[in-house]
Amino acid sequence: MGRHEIKDHFYNTQALVDLWGDFIDWEKRFLTMGGFLDELLSGRKKVFETCLGDGCDAIHLLKKGFDVTSNEVDSLFSKKARENADKHDVMLKVTGFDWREIDKHLFEGEFDVALCLGNSLTYLFRKEDQLKALRNFRHILNDGGILVVDERNYPYFLENAAKILKGDFRYSGKYMYCGTKVHGRPVEIEENKVVMEYEDGGTGKKAYLVLYPFRKGEMLSLLKEAGFSKITTYSDFKKGYEKNADFYQYVAEK
Ligand SMILES: C[S@@+](CC[C@H](N)C(=O)[O-])C[C@H]1O[C@@H](n2cnc3c(N)ncnc32)[C@H](O)[C@@H]1O
Repeated sequence: MGRHEIKDHFYNTQALVDLWGDFIDWEKRFLTMGGFLDELLSGRKKVFETCLGDGCDAIHLLKKGFDVTSNEVDSLFSKKARENADKHDVMLKVTGFDWREIDKHLFEGEFDVALCLGNSLTYLFRKEDQLKALRNFRHILNDGGILVVDERNYPYFLENAAKILKGDFRYSGKYMYCGTKVHGRPVEIEENKVVMEYEDGGTGKKAYLVLYPFRKGEMLSLLKEAGFSKITTYSDFKKGYEKNADFYQYVAEK
């Protein structure tokens, strides 16, 4: 199937949203991501979180005193995030834009930081959509502002598809998705499409996501094409490229 023929929109299901908290494990996520974010966000104040999800990162940053605007286009996730914010006694500021339309709604240079974490850009399949989203993230940043975007280790998926689909899937469980109750694993790996299955080990409940697997170097070239010039790569939150990492993060400055 060609890259342009798959789909042009995101989707989540209630089953996925219900499993998400146990898949992430909020506390464990910040054991490894907390220091990375603290360093990057130091001296910066206005954060646009492009994908709120269940509220994990927004609630963490609001508690730390950042001025956070969170975007969530999916009402299932924003409802869950609001419930979680109530439990944590913080007030979310939520917008609900499709990334590809952000420039129609937000001013240029409004934010110091744009966060697109949790392997989210991969919801978009078409190159023009990925680029439009990245250009829009750049648009809302002020000069010197940063976009922090991540992706899974898709080159590992693509190079080891047969082995992985037989059950030999390497994942440390230490980064981003750290839960021990709900596990995620690829159940389909094609050149232009990965299907992830999420399963609650206790109840057997399952949910799925269909995602676009970036090739090695693809995210970097997209960021450059979107107009970012100074880009730093991290592997599992450490500067540099490490072949066996679970996630890659990119910090791109405007
Ligand atoms: C994998 S979830 C990650 C959520 C959260 N950042 C985390 O790390 O747990 C991906 C998020 O991207 C959002 N998303 C996907 N495509 C989008 C689009 N075109 N515009 C805006 N948000 C989108 C989804 O609604 C979902 O909240």
